Amino acid sequence: MAIIFDSTSRLFTLTTNHSMYQMKADRYGVLLHTWFGMKGSAFDYSYRIAYADRGFSGNPYDAGDDRTYSLDVLPQEFPTYGSGDYRSTALKVRYPDGTSACELRYLKHEIQEGKYSLPGLPAIFTSLDEGRTPADTLIITLEDTRRRFFVHLYYGVMEDLDIITRAVCVENHSDEDIYLENIQSVCIDYLYGDYDLHTFYGRHVKERSCQRTPVVHGIHSVGSTRGTSSHQYNPFLILSGRDATEETGSCYGFSFLYSGDFIGSAELDQYDQTRLLLGIHPDNFCYCVKPQERFYAPEAVMAYTEHGLNELSHIFHRAYRRHLCRGIWTTKRRPVLLNDWEGVYFDFNGDKLIQMAKDAAELGVELFVMDDGWFGKRDLDVSGLGDWSVNEKKLGCTLKELSDRIHDLGLMFGIWFEPEGINEDSDLYRAHPEWAMRIPGKSPTRSRQQLLLDFSREDVRDYIFRHICQVLDSARIEYLKWDLNRSLSDLYSAVLPKERQGEVMHRYVLGLYDMLEKLVTRYPDLLVEGCSGGGGRFDAGMLYYTPQIWCSDDTDAIERLSIQYGTSFGYPVSTMGSHVSHCPNEQTGRITPLNTRATVAMSGTFGYELDVNKMSKDEKRIVRSQIREFKAYYNLIQYGDYYRLTNPDTETAWHGWEFAAEDGSEALLCIVAIQIHPNGPGRWMRLKGLKKDSIYTIDGKRYPGDVLMNSGLLLPVATEEYQSFRIHIAEV
Ligand code: DGJ
Repeated sequence: MAIIFDSTSRLFTLTTNHSMYQMKADRYGVLLHTWFGMKGSAFDYSYRIAYADRGFSGNPYDAGDDRTYSLDVLPQEFPTYGSGDYRSTALKVRYPDGTSACELRYLKHEIQEGKYSLPGLPAIFTSLDEGRTPADTLIITLEDTRRRFFVHLYYGVMEDLDIITRAVCVENHSDEDIYLENIQSVCIDYLYGDYDLHTFYGRHVKERSCQRTPVVHGIHSVGSTRGTSSHQYNPFLILSGRDATEETGSCYGFSFLYSGDFIGSAELDQYDQTRLLLGIHPDNFCYCVKPQERFYAPEAVMAYTEHGLNELSHIFHRAYRRHLCRGIWTTKRRPVLLNDWEGVYFDFNGDKLIQMAKDAAELGVELFVMDDGWFGKRDLDVSGLGDWSVNEKKLGCTLKELSDRIHDLGLMFGIWFEPEGINEDSDLYRAHPEWAMRIPGKSPTRSRQQLLLDFSREDVRDYIFRHICQVLDSARIEYLKWDLNRSLSDLYSAVLPKERQGEVMHRYVLGLYDMLEKLVTRYPDLLVEGCSGGGGRFDAGMLYYTPQIWCSDDTDAIERLSIQYGTSFGYPVSTMGSHVSHCPNEQTGRITPLNTRATVAMSGTFGYELDVNKMSKDEKRIVRSQIREFKAYYNLIQYGDYYRLTNPDTETAWHGWEFAAEDGSEALLCIVAIQIHPNGPGRWMRLKGLKKDSIYTIDGKRYPGDVLMNSGLLLPVATEEYQSFRIHIAEV
């Protein structure tokens, strides 16, 4: 059993194969956090807590005259606002009398076999019948000292995956409404240690750059108030030892399974203790919990390793590939696709698409995707959103005819939607202006000249869902790209009373999940790719519904090096939508070799996004062989261990990464010359994940595994700007 409760000391110990997590209900019933880290001896780690009389750190009444007991100092599992803890806290509740102070005490707990799930929210899952990935659930119930509500803390322990999940449920036990003003899904208190906080920041077309900063006194927070997880910050954080590297050192990873506003923060307090919090951002959040109702805060996944950042990523990659992404496309090979967007944008008709599809089929492409522009009045991005009826005049045929012609070429067919969006110049807006999010009496903020539908409303969602289904049912469609091209603003819902307007952002996200759930249930074979102007909603919440997400609208291979590098810290390559586009690149004007564009795109879900009809014979020959190669390496790339070998933001000569089979039998080294210098020095790269006692061949030469890993492989000399190499390493 991965969860052990010692009733004498009221100690909860959760263990995975390599990590341990511990909490203790102390003599006052306060749930202390006593350990998260390396798996060690069964022991009560609360011995580490130093009790002392601290000035200006008050004492709870139940501690009597004991001045050494202060919640302002103690490591807590779920600290609350107004309890005498002046650090950032995990819960703030407003009561009907206007007060907000809240104290929680341990009431009971329950241990269950299997992993809990959460109503209407994404959650890591496992199935016991698989027999390989057992999971256990612990639910600790805390009670408000004024007996007005319960807090149920959920823990899922997946030993073999080395992850522990957390979620929170607040149950109103009183006969009055209570208001949640802040609820965090994760709180971890570290008693001591010097840490670095790794966050992933960016902007549109430059997502998930890595930032590593020492945790210093004060609060360092990142987050989003855009209603999506955002291009700007990602809901994935790492806290590591200062000396941690890719290969060594303590690393903690925290991933939030949520696609809306979030906040992640690290606070170093007056006693050099670190508190890490991760949860819904409180700025746009105030949720009313009615008597006897429950509110569920989204799940977060936590992992620890003492073997550095690469190993931490592997833990998340393995868990997300099989226990977050769902459906047939989790294990079935995903098709190599051609998306028409950068090839033709809005300028196409059915015949043009068929011309593209013909060439694509000859090259070995398996799926043709018709992106934006096929519906309503949509020849530019200023109109038509919301009118999900096929523009047969533009296509010159029905959708079924188009899809049939594409299938006749041996290709699958996919289609783009932006279900949440609405243009003021659309029939839907003219019929239902009140369905768009806007605040009465205020002009809405436009973005890409569009508004958003109020997805917190069931009637609005039902309408859109019906129209999407009509399209999907009218033709053979195997793939759907779900896009969103702006941030939320003007949070207001016409169907909620004024005291519940603080719920709109969260209800929007729940509405989104509800619709996605209906979609994947009704069309279990449909491959759904998430997208929000590229990677504006690249998060673990979306991955529960869409096993791949368009990583960025920046398709430049060199820019993508750092975007995909940053993304890889928390997410597997099998989730990263990545395409070869034409040159000069649309976003940067840069010219890179076709081979390099493929090296980078292959380290994702792989596809092309260009007008194939404009390719030369020679380019087509190269593409044909790229697709063949990708298919041959598919398992290695999608299911192998991904190693970051260099950091493209600091290493200016070469960037390298590697896929190694879990059993070490083969590997694929990918390297891109970022800068070339004539007559430059030799360069080597140390490989990872091989068997040290095995012999490997590379281009006919034999090398012992330990030599490749310790001494490294001499890299070829680059003779062309941005040249790349894919080097296969096979065990003899
Ligand atoms: C933004 C996406 O990221 C692009 O790939 C494309 O689908 C456009 N939207 C279409 O409007």
